[in-house]
This record gives sequence, C-alpha cells and structure tokens, in this order.
Amino acid sequence: MKGLILSGGKGTRLRPLTYTGAKQLVPVANKPVLFYAIEDLVDAGVQAIGIVISPETGDQVKAAVGDGSRFGARVDYILQDAPRGIAHGIKIAQDFVGKDKFVLFLGDNFIRDGIVPQVAAFRDNSMHAQIILYKMDDPSSMGVAVLDDAGCVTKLVEKPKQFISPYAVIGIYMFDHHVFDAVNSIKPSKRGELEITDTIQYLIDQKLSVRAHLIQGAWIDTGKVQDILEANRLVLDVVESKNEGQVDAESRIEGRVVLEKGAVVVNSTVRGPAIIGEGTRIENAFVGPYTSIYYSCTIQNCEIENSVVLENSKICCLSKRIADSLIGRNTDISRAEGRTQTLKMVVGDYSKVGI
Ligand code: TTP
Repeated sequence: MKGLILSGGKGTRLRPLTYTGAKQLVPVANKPVLFYAIEDLVDAGVQAIGIVISPETGDQVKAAVGDGSRFGARVDYILQDAPRGIAHGIKIAQDFVGKDKFVLFLGDNFIRDGIVPQVAAFRDNSMHAQIILYKMDDPSSMGVAVLDDAGCVTKLVEKPKQFISPYAVIGIYMFDHHVFDAVNSIKPSKRGELEITDTIQYLIDQKLSVRAHLIQGAWIDTGKVQDILEANRLVLDVVESKNEGQVDAESRIEGRVVLEKGAVVVNSTVRGPAIIGEGTRIENAFVGPYTSIYYSCTIQNCEIENSVVLENSKICCLSKRIADSLIGRNTDISRAEGRTQTLKMVVGDYSKVGI
C-alpha cells in the first residue's frame, strides 16, 4: 500500500501565515502538522509516500521532509500546478500510485490516535474505498455520510442544509485503483475544483463497495487558528517532561515541560504543559500552560499562555499578557506604551507589532 499526502492548496483560512508559508508546516507542539501525517502512515506500515506540493510552498515542504528517510519512509513529490481540488491531487498521482491501494491523507489533518486499525481493515478486507467518519452534533459545515445497516456508505452530501446524519467525513481516505476512473470522469464543481465528495459518490453510484470506519479519538482539521491551538493542546496534554536546556536558580519549571536543546530560562516561570524550542530564550517571563515556543525565539518581559509561536520570533512587551494567539515566523513584538492588558492576536510571518 502507498500513501498520498496533499500538501498544496490555498490556505486562505490561515492567512496571513499562508502568504509566506505552507500551512502544513505550522508546528503543533513544535513539530509541523505534516510530520504527524507521515508518522501515522509509517506507523501503519505505509512507507512509499507521495506528497502533492504547490509551486508556491513546495520547496519549503521538500526542505522540511527531504527524502523521508528520517521517518523511515521513501518520499516522492508530485507538483500540482494550481489548487484544482483534492480529487485533482489524486488524478495527478496516478503514475505514482499505479495499481496499488493507497491512503489519501490531507496534510493539514491531525488524528490523535493514528490510523493503524483503519489501514489494517482496508488491507485485509475486500472493499474499493474506505472513508473515516467522526461523529458530530452539527456536521453541517462538512461532507456528511449516510450509512445503511451493514455500515456501507449509501450517500455523501457536502455541507447539508438539513440534518441527514451525524457522521462527518474526515480528511483520510483509502482507495483502490477504481478511484482513478472516478477522478477521470467527474467534472469540476461550481467553485472550479474536482471534489472528493463527487469522487466517492461516483464510486457508490458504480455499486463499488465504500465502507466507513468511525473513529472515537480526537480529529482536527488544522485549517484555522483555533484548530491549531486545539491540536497543540491535545499533543501537549500527553507530552513527557524533558530538559535539554538550562534553567537558572531564579526560575521555576512547573508541571510537564519540554526544554529542547539549547533552550535557556532566566528568572522566569514555565508552567506546563509547555514546550520551549531549540535555542529559545525565556527571560523575566511567564510561559503558561498549553504554549509551544518554536526554535530560536526570545520571550522577554511578558506573559504568554495557550499560544503557539513560530521560529525566530521575538516577543518583548513589558507587563503584557498574550493569550490564545498564533504568532508567525520572524515576528518582532515589542513594547510601545500602555497598561497591562490581555492581547489576542493573529500575527503573520515577518510582521512587526509595537504595543
Ligand atoms: P483544504 O483545507 O480543503 O483547502 P485549502 O488548503 O485550499 O485551504 P482553505 O480552505 O483555507 O483555502 O485542503 C485540504 C488539504 O489538501 C490541505 O493540506 C491542502 C491540500 N490541497 C491540495 O494539496 N491541493 C488542492 O487542490 C486542494 C484544494 C487542497
């Protein structure tokens, strides 16, 4: 079996970060969300992985993932000229996939418990496609599946206006070669994309067997800021303490905290769960629960909690508390004037904010 990860797309919901960076490389607990997908595939015994990339962010993805050897995988890259839809990503991967069965994994999807049982079920049972479902009270913003009594998918509806089923279709799918007939037959939708919903509906209409696997554990589509923070909390909730950095005598480390190589904590409190990246300096600061600070950052004279800070950023704002924020790469947030306030921000890569 092969793996196909989609790591192109527009990323409009995660602007401004996606003006300059791939959304699949946004770190969750200091690891790009895309890496979790690769690891999930490898854990499930899938080592031959194709990654669909875009002309805009493809080089960043290649630089981050390389040939896949450090994941125990072999990675090929497939360039998509423009974001023409998820099913278009399948279409251009036909040569890579050949006659094999494959797992399609959307590169911004995060599934806490991995995909080992789902891949085993697809490998061992005769079916043409398997979709993964997540039960929701209100799945109206998603593709929704209707099942028969035997658990076969009878219908898919994109963003249904009326409640038809609680089962949302998540961004991990398994197919055999019949899917190529589907993606070569369907037409672009009103928004001009080849849709995955139409692809699966085509298979159902051809009377091919499309089964469903309901997951119990958490799943997050990290397409928006709040979703990244939620995925970050989920991973930090199970992180184990580790100290490869330095903490001075005036500082306190409370709860489960990871200090990566060369991290320095001076006259500060870090309250876990939290992770402080390589070469990052925390000085005269409070880093609160559910915060991930990526590598080569400086956090000085401020408080920050429930936030994610990307690499090479500097936050230095006396008597300010930052909460619920996603701060991009190479940002510089420094004090102007004012009284203590809570700040709530989405700051893009290379931004400079004076407060
Ligand atoms: P989406 O989140 O559905 O689309 P998007 O990335 O364009 O984002 P937004 O809705 O915020 O504009 O894409 C899911 C995943 O599939 C994501 O990792 C990007 C990837 N993708 C491609 O690689 N090619 C495509 O043509 C599309 C539509 C998505």
